[in-house]
Amino acid sequence: MSSRPPSPDPSSAASPDPGSVPGAAALRGRTVVLIGGGSGIGLRVAHQVVAAGAEVVLGGRTPARLAAAAQRLGPAASWRTVDITDKASLAAFFAPLERVDHLFTSAASYRVGPMLALSDEDAESPFASKFWGQYHAVRHAAPKLAADGSVVLMSGAAGARPPAPAPAYAACNAAIEGLGRGLAVELAPVRVNVVSPGTVDGNLWAGRPAPDREAAFAQYRRDTLLHRLGTEDEIAQAVVFLFTNGFTTGSTLYPDGGYTLR
Ligand SMILES: NC(=O)c1ccc[n+]([C@@H]2O[C@H](COP(=O)([O-])OP(=O)(O)OC[C@H]3O[C@@H](n4cnc5c(N)ncnc54)[C@H](OP(=O)(O)O)[C@@H]3O)[C@@H](O)[C@H]2O)c1
Repeated sequence: MSSRPPSPDPSSAASPDPGSVPGAAALRGRTVVLIGGGSGIGLRVAHQVVAAGAEVVLGGRTPARLAAAAQRLGPAASWRTVDITDKASLAAFFAPLERVDHLFTSAASYRVGPMLALSDEDAESPFASKFWGQYHAVRHAAPKLAADGSVVLMSGAAGARPPAPAPAYAACNAAIEGLGRGLAVELAPVRVNVVSPGTVDGNLWAGRPAPDREAAFAQYRRDTLLHRLGTEDEIAQAVVFLFTNGFTTGSTLYPDGGYTLR
């Protein structure tokens, strides 16, 4: 493996004091790239890591959304447009960055549904956007990842327990978890982990038709151990844990209220 960019302050970031609890403080002065960080879970990650002293680079397709998010985050935030389904766009996005300490890509747009109902294009859309988008984002970030940095991939609990007929979407999430294990082996010592959330009452579902949303929420409340939806902040907290726990790699974390257990 070729050498990786150095950390800004290895004494504080890579080697916590003996007896101290490594945690969000390890993010101070770090560069965290959040593609999809203009809204939803990615935006909550941005707020949490900026509060911990990191600088964030937000990516997404809509300048107005990114600019508004960066303005709320303050001077530690910058943004650039990027489309994760376009390799040239990813190359241009990462080109100006000298070092990437942590990368999380919650960006994706796809259609879900039964095999016998979806067009081929719609059926292939989760892989085209969510799987290959994240793959190529990591591919472009890899030469710039700090040796003690990390990648968190976005999956979804539907990969382990499909709530409704949507086999290509379920398979895509399961594939992302396999991708995380494969990348952890290839990119070590950079850590690579996967977060696989349950259903979240947040921006993604707010944009879907109300009858679909209410039916999905009712089913999730019924089928999960905690009988509630997750929050974007709870998923963001899991992402920050994976950024900062230096001994966790190749793992998938399920912040899902016990959905995959039942
Ligand atoms: N919310 C949940 O209940 C839940 C549960 C499990 C898994 N997930 C996963 O979480 C991810 C969505 O995150 P979220 O819930 O925070 O939803 P969100 O608020 O819709 O965030 C998605 C972000 O990605 C950006 N984006 C979409 N397509 C893009 C592309 N091709 N290139 C660059 N940016 C793109 C969007 O901005 P632009 O449209 O402006 O580009 C948006 O800011 C998906 O992978 C989803 O499968 C969500």
